[in-house]
Amino acid sequence: MRVAVIGAAGGIGQALALLLKNQLPAGSDLALYDIAPVTPGIAVDLSHIPTFVSIKGFCGDDPTPALEGADIVLISAGVARKPRMDRSDLFNVNASIIRSLSNRIANVCPKALVGIITNPINTTVAIAAEVLMAKGVYDKNRLFGITTLDIIRSETFVAELKGKNPSQIHVPVIGGHSGATILPLLSQVEGVIFTEDEVKTLMIRIQNAGTAVVTAKDGGGSATLSMGYAACRFSLALVRAAQGEKNVIEYAYIEGNGKYARFFAQPIRLGKGGVEKILDHGPLSIFEQEALDNMLDTLHKDIKMGEEFVK
Ligand code: APR
Repeated sequence: MRVAVIGAAGGIGQALALLLKNQLPAGSDLALYDIAPVTPGIAVDLSHIPTFVSIKGFCGDDPTPALEGADIVLISAGVARKPRMDRSDLFNVNASIIRSLSNRIANVCPKALVGIITNPINTTVAIAAEVLMAKGVYDKNRLFGITTLDIIRSETFVAELKGKNPSQIHVPVIGGHSGATILPLLSQVEGVIFTEDEVKTLMIRIQNAGTAVVTAKDGGGSATLSMGYAACRFSLALVRAAQGEKNVIEYAYIEGNGKYARFFAQPIRLGKGGVEKILDHGPLSIFEQEALDNMLDTLHKDIKMGEEFVK
């Protein structure tokens, strides 16, 4: 497998590259790209870790050398939330970056599986889809917004509350990847019963977990290490499925059957070509159904903003 990390010199990119260098199957190639000149040096640094994963770093204006031959492209390039920056500042910068990278992907590695980490994911995934579509290479089964961070946060917080081992807790999370669009399906967590108050408190904690990190880092950025871990977990699932492992199930923000919105985070079975089957998210509690109904306006607006940005 050849995996490209774009934005590799950033907080998320470096953590992700470190984890992939350690965990990709033997014989894989890792290509790092960032506009930052330090990127080739990051690759040299990581190359001293004794695993059978080759690694090369590229910088400059053109990501082409990192994208050539890529089976999987993971994008965390962009700006993270900083003080005195409002959401529209973040959107404008990151939207242009995703548009230009998607153009390069369409030209250089149109068949790659593409995982987007750059926020706002609800919108950046729509941007990538529109660009790939305009280039005639869009395959909805190959484009993913990585929402695994919402899953691992949910699992951690539930385990903490109930005194359980987090590795044995599984929390489905559907919807989108910001604020009220993040919908953890706590009613489906096996072996745990919550009071109504617990459900409300957990929901708030999960939906605001990103902001909690931004606040705690006090101007130093947003979640990087847990996001790197989450993106690695999702990427390794893509790799396992691409290499023929059966029954690889994950959650991701993808273009599905459009039941709720064009893009929606949902359970999927992965195969060699990306999404192999969209799975049912199962029954919702009344509380979850209400939360789902209430988020849809926001999600539709987020998606439209991406579509219109490209058009
Ligand atoms: N091509 C490649 N890399 C780029 C580009 C570009 N066009 N523009 C910016 N970058 C790089 C920067 O040089 C930097 O190294 O993206 C990296 C971003 O790193 P950080 O600022 O540390 O941000 P990080 O915390 O990694 O988050 C990046 O992911 O989850 C999202 O909200 C987060 O949108 C943000 C992104």
